[in-house]
Amino acid sequence: MPSVNISSGTISYTEHGKGRPIALIHGFPLDSRMWDKQIHALADLGRVIAIDLLGFGKSPSNDPFTLMGQAKLLREALKAMDALPCIPTGLSMGGYIALEFAHVFPTDMQALMLLDTRAEADSPEGKAGRNKMLEILAAGGAKAVADQLIGKLVSADTIQHRPQVVRDLRSMMEQCPVKTIEHALVALRDREDARSYLPSISVPTLIVVGKDDAITPIPSAEALHQGIAHSKLEIIPGSGHMTTMEQPEQVNQAIRRFVSGLK
Ligand code: MLT
Repeated sequence: MPSVNISSGTISYTEHGKGRPIALIHGFPLDSRMWDKQIHALADLGRVIAIDLLGFGKSPSNDPFTLMGQAKLLREALKAMDALPCIPTGLSMGGYIALEFAHVFPTDMQALMLLDTRAEADSPEGKAGRNKMLEILAAGGAKAVADQLIGKLVSADTIQHRPQVVRDLRSMMEQCPVKTIEHALVALRDREDARSYLPSISVPTLIVVGKDDAITPIPSAEALHQGIAHSKLEIIPGSGHMTTMEQPEQVNQAIRRFVSGLK
């Protein structure tokens, strides 16, 4: 896997294609492999770059982080790769980071893609859930976190008919370092509410959500759609939260329609 040095470590990434950079930002507690079904399939649309955020996958770090901090590191890495301006494309936690990127670096993006994500900060119950997950992590490690999350990440349809997706997800989650999961839970719990950022997003934006997404459900996607002026919403049937893995063909078609319509 190629890598690039940034101020606080090394970012590893996979890249295919040429032209317009499309920066794929993974969810929690995953890594760039969650985009395996997009990296090659979309390479005719541009330069598809799937990064391992610092602390995840093959970008090791034990340092605590914020989602804004991750957005800044992402920009540093993309600049070092000569991949700006880009189309930040984030799923869930990756979407929170893409929204931070849009807020701080508006001139570094040509368009934006937000998948299975939301602008709202954690509710008090959501924050309590993160604290509970920190306890589960301390007691049982990454496997215990995977046990808790797996049933929420994918639809019942995927659990029944696509067991390989469930196996791949579980294996990625179990490989995520405990320290990274801990830091990510804190960063997710304490993240800013991004709703006030939405009116200033002026680039074309694609919003994608699985019809059965239980983590960032359709109303959150609709709120993004209402808040971002030039946005398009695509709802993916037969999928929960992990649309890129559960229904890659449909997600790729939605991305293809959107990117090929850009100037
Ligand atoms: C993710 O998929 O990145 C996380 O589930 C996001 C979250 O828990 O808010």
